[in-house]
Amino acid sequence: TEQSFIMVKPDGVQRGLVGDIIKRYEQRGYTLKGLKLMNVDKSLAEKHYEEHQGKPFFPKLVDFITSGPVCAMVWEGKNIVAAGRTMIGATNPQASAPGTIRGDYGIDMGRNIIHGSDSVESARREIGLWFPEGLAEWTPVAKPWIYE
Ligand code: GTP
Ligand code: MG
Repeated sequence: TEQSFIMVKPDGVQRGLVGDIIKRYEQRGYTLKGLKLMNVDKSLAEKHYEEHQGKPFFPKLVDFITSGPVCAMVWEGKNIVAAGRTMIGATNPQASAPGTIRGDYGIDMGRNIIHGSDSVESARREIGLWFPEGLAEWTPVAKPWIYE
């Protein structure tokens, strides 16, 4: 089954949004496969955002991600990568529809609360980077009530 790396950024943790964000994915019917609150060192932040190295906003982005704990998660389910991003909204919260996480809680681009993998390929890379210890193994009993 498809998996995505979803991470509540330091602003989301500080603002007490972790519970709401978990609730959204859980209630939609996705399966939680990994979860940890952790501080991020510079090397991990730079690897995570390696596609943006050299861009003008990169140093600020790395400073921000390392500025406090993040809540790192892996969620699993049909089309979770794209659907997970739809639930997050646009990169700029100003362009995010109400009902999305960024549209409900965000104002500035550099404080956009949450990360979600942008492709199945990125998800694979990011899950390996953030969860080298592996993921939880389980089958939710509600599955036949979520999938036809
Ligand atoms: P992530 O889920 O964090 O990866 O966001 P995203 O996939 O919606 O956007 P992207 O990967 O393109 O950029 C990563 C992060 O860098 C964004 O979440 C923004 O916080 C920041 N960022 C991206 N583009 C810009 C920009 O043009 N200016 C500034 N200041 N920040 C940017
Ligand atoms: Mg991205």
